[in-house]
Order: sequence, then structure tokens, then C-alpha cells
Amino acid sequence: MLEIKEKDTSCRARNALMTLPHGTVQTPAFMPVGTAGTVKAMFHQSLEDMGYELILGNTYHLYLRPGMEVIRNAGSLHKFTTWDRNYLTDSGGFQVFSLSSRRKISEEGVRFSSHIDGSYHTFTPESVVEIQETLRSDIQMVLDVCTAPGISKREAEEALKTTMSWARRAKKRWENRVEGYDGKLFSIVQGNFYKDLRKRSVEEIIELDTPGIAIGGLSVGESKDEFNEFLAYTAELLPEEKPHYVMGIGTPDYILESVEHGIDIFDCVYPTRIARNSTVFTRDGLIALKNQQFQFDDQPIDPTCQCSTCQRYSRSYLRHLFKAGEMLGPMLATEHNLFFLANFMKEIRQSISEGRFLEYKKTFTEAYYGAKI
Ligand code: GUN
Ligand code: ZN
Repeated sequence: MLEIKEKDTSCRARNALMTLPHGTVQTPAFMPVGTAGTVKAMFHQSLEDMGYELILGNTYHLYLRPGMEVIRNAGSLHKFTTWDRNYLTDSGGFQVFSLSSRRKISEEGVRFSSHIDGSYHTFTPESVVEIQETLRSDIQMVLDVCTAPGISKREAEEALKTTMSWARRAKKRWENRVEGYDGKLFSIVQGNFYKDLRKRSVEEIIELDTPGIAIGGLSVGESKDEFNEFLAYTAELLPEEKPHYVMGIGTPDYILESVEHGIDIFDCVYPTRIARNSTVFTRDGLIALKNQQFQFDDQPIDPTCQCSTCQRYSRSYLRHLFKAGEMLGPMLATEHNLFFLANFMKEIRQSISEGRFLEYKKTFTEAYYGAKI
């Protein structure tokens, strides 16, 4: 499913084509997050125009609301939402830990209470594959146990054992998927911040032989140095021929670091979430449009940006929209941030293709982070 097209000669960065049921994805690719069947504040048309070929949905949210009967009635998540390109759905493992107020893990699965109405539900590795089959996800993720930094090795090992046993059960259930559905299953490397556990996780996953592999349990509150160290260590161990996904990554510095180590796809709420709070990307770093300094600023967000927001609107007007709590503010800012990231990924792929990825990384980082790094 992954056709590697070009490799950078001085690091592990690569350009590839990933073939999925709803079309081919050019990688490295960033996936906008469409948790509840919508990338917040964005028209589907706009995502298509920007060239996004793969977006993320959440099993946890969609299962709770609108519920599987509604999706089944529509036929698939694609038909329900009219997004006719690829969906990757996360398994709910991470969301149960971050959103649900009560949860209990057993060997069988995880019992949790809904963040919407407090009702109780159980996810098992099998039921989560089944839900994603009903969604017709193009990439589905196994149910996993994501842990925070700072836990003991014994606890980390326990969580890893559960994750790996769940991954084997998920794979078995996925092998018996309904005829005509060809979504790919990705397993998830865990192991907390213990290298031997990370290594063991990768070895067992290689043995399991799922179509793709994700690195989970990163960007969960650890330092940037620790992220870099564990990303590099884990990514080096992955088989080259499979797609590599780092979960929950979306800042330019973490994306660049991931690409350098051979990662193909990433997702994060970061670009869309900060946009709704008036914070936008520019080549010279982030700016917060709400700030006083933009009150009389006639320039677009980023004069070099070709997005529809920057073609038409000034920082001064955008500041006004945010100050007045107008809906158009978050819409225009999200449009810009996702365009900026789509263009960033295009530039990354171009630099790999020309064998100058590390040079691009340096130039981008100096302009974007300036003296801050
Ligand atoms: N999203 C961000 N990190 C993770 C992770 O470790 N597991 C899952 N399932 N989703 C994530
Ligand atoms: Zn723009």
C-alpha cells in the first residue's frame, strides 16, 4: 500500500504514495482533525481545494454521537458527511483516557462513562474494529492504552502488555471484516518513556504484521528533548516498507523532526484549535490576531500566503471579528492555518524530492522560531 518514490540522501525523510480505498495520498501528509465528522469551521469543499486527501475522525465521538445506527443508515462515514476522500479513525483508546471522567481497564476492554451524558459503555479491541468497519474507515487504529510520562516501569509494562494483547485481538477481528470493505489496520507502538519497552512493542508489532504502524504515547506532556529522543529511537526500529504515523503531532517543529526520521503521516487539533482562538501561522512565527498591535494593520495575515483569507482580508478586520465574537473570525483563521500547513507539507515534499530536506528544515525553523530555538 506504500510506494516509496524518493528518499532524502542525508536523513530518513521520504516521499511516498499511500493507496487507500478512497484514493491515493501523497506523503508526508498532515491530517486535519475532524473529530465529530466535521473539521471545525471548515467547508469540505475548501479542504478538497487545498488538496487534503486524508482527514481524521474519532471512533469515540462518532459512536457516542450520532451513534452507529445513524451512520449505518447513511451507509458509511463518507456518505454521511459527504467527504469522499479518505478517513483515518482513531480507536477511542486515547479519547477514553483524555475525555471520559470514569474508566476502568480490564483484560477484556475498557469501560467508560460518556463525557456527553455520563452513560456507561464498553470498548473491546473487537468492538472498536467493528465500529470502524461500520464507519468504513480507510485506516483504522487498534484500541490501545496510552500512558502519561512519569509512571513506573512496572505500570508501563502492564499497559504495554494490555496494548499488545488488544492489538492481536484487533488484527484477528479485522481479518474477518465484511466482504467489499478494504480499510487498513494500523497497530500502535506504546511503551511509555522506556526504550526497552518501546523496542519490545515494535518487535511484537512487526511480528503482528499490520498494514501500517503508528507511534503512540508521544506529545503527552514530556519535554521536547524527550520527544525528539523517543521519536528518533522508535522510528529507527520501524520497517521501512510500511507507512509510519506519529499520533497527535501538529506543530511545525515536531512535524519537521518526524519527517526527518521517516514518518509519513501526522494529525493534531493544534492548527484548527489555535485558529479558533485567533492564533495563526506566518512564516515568521505565530501571531494572535486579537492583539492590540493589529488594530490598524491593513496587511493580510501573511503577505506570502495564497489562501483565500489572505487574498481578501486584513489583520485589522480579522481582529475586529474576533473581538466582536463573530463566527467568520474562526472560519477565516482556520482556512488560513490549514492552507498554510498544506503548503508547508508541499514544500517539505518538494525539498525531499530535490534532496535538500535538512536545508529546508533549517531555513524554515530559523524564520519561524527565530531566536526562540
Ligand atoms: N492520539 C495521540 N496519541 C495517541 C495514542 O497514543 N493512542 C491513540 N489511540 N491515539 C492517540
Ligand atoms: Zn493565508
